[in-house]
Amino acid sequence: MLTKPFGWTGVPVSVIGQGTWMIEGNREAERRAVEALRLGLDLGMTHIDTAEMYGNGRAEELVGEAIAGRRHEVFLVSKVLPSNASYQGTLRACERSLRRLRTDYLDLYLLHWRGSHPLEETMSAMEALVAAGKIRYLGVSNFDVEDLKAAERCLTTQRLAANQVLYHLKDRGIERRLIPYCAERGIAVVGYSPFAHSDFPRPGSREEKLLSEIGARIGRTPRQVILNFLTRQPNVFTIPKASRLDHVRENSGGTGWEFTPEELAKLEQAFPAPARDMPLGML
Ligand SMILES: NC(=O)c1ccc[n+]([C@@H]2O[C@H](COP(=O)([O-])OP(=O)(O)OC[C@H]3O[C@@H](n4cnc5c(N)ncnc54)[C@H](OP(=O)(O)O)[C@@H]3O)[C@@H](O)[C@H]2O)c1
Repeated sequence: MLTKPFGWTGVPVSVIGQGTWMIEGNREAERRAVEALRLGLDLGMTHIDTAEMYGNGRAEELVGEAIAGRRHEVFLVSKVLPSNASYQGTLRACERSLRRLRTDYLDLYLLHWRGSHPLEETMSAMEALVAAGKIRYLGVSNFDVEDLKAAERCLTTQRLAANQVLYHLKDRGIERRLIPYCAERGIAVVGYSPFAHSDFPRPGSREEKLLSEIGARIGRTPRQVILNFLTRQPNVFTIPKASRLDHVRENSGGTGWEFTPEELAKLEQAFPAPARDMPLGML
């Protein structure tokens, strides 16, 4: 699996990581989800994304199980819920996440989306967490350019390392202003829901056929084409979620080659970026 520098931090992070939203379930489903995460690590997808929100903490517990004994391999990311993101609330939420994840530090801690607690409080709590060695880097999620600027103004000792946002072939709005702004500031962009959360591309659809034709030249599948396209820019990463082992294997092959100009033109035509600025999409 390819890695690239995670924005200004320079830390090499796997271009394709692993999401964990909705990995919780019955015992068998959870056993499979843990096995899938471990296989993903074996295949180099060492960027693991979770959040206190996912399964009310259950996803973090399962990640803790999956990375037990392998913490050093992982770039571990979690998120604080906006409703917990007061100064003290952020410190407490981080402690709870660390306990569930069975680790003593996070590589990256994000505000899940902007809520009603003042950003100053959340950002300064995150700076205190960096100073205490509980998190290495801080960031945000679902922030558009103006929100990013507001967060940057609140920081005094640290810089934003990342912004995690919705990004898939049918929602390319972030390419207009957000990706260029983040590139200029050295903020890594982590695109979530690369398969539009579930059913894209639909089996047998025209879209799937086109992606399949494009992948055929070098023996790649439609979903591998999607992942490679979404991570073609230097500061953009993606975090598909997969609980099936065959899906994990497939996703791990979704990077590492260049599209021809003709292939790019076909993708542009079938999945155009919007022609004007759009509000940030969110799941
Ligand atoms: N910051 C935020 O607000 C936010 C919001 C949404 C998501 N996220 C993060 O981004 C991650 C990914 O987004 P997502 O979970 O919404 O959806 P996604 O990754 O776009 O899609 C997940 C779905 O695609 C299936 N899938 C994965 N790989 C596949 C493959 N190779 N072939 C066929 N199907 C495949 C999965 O099936 P199986 O599970 O059965 O393998 C699952 O049903 C989340 O898990 C979460 O960590 C963050």
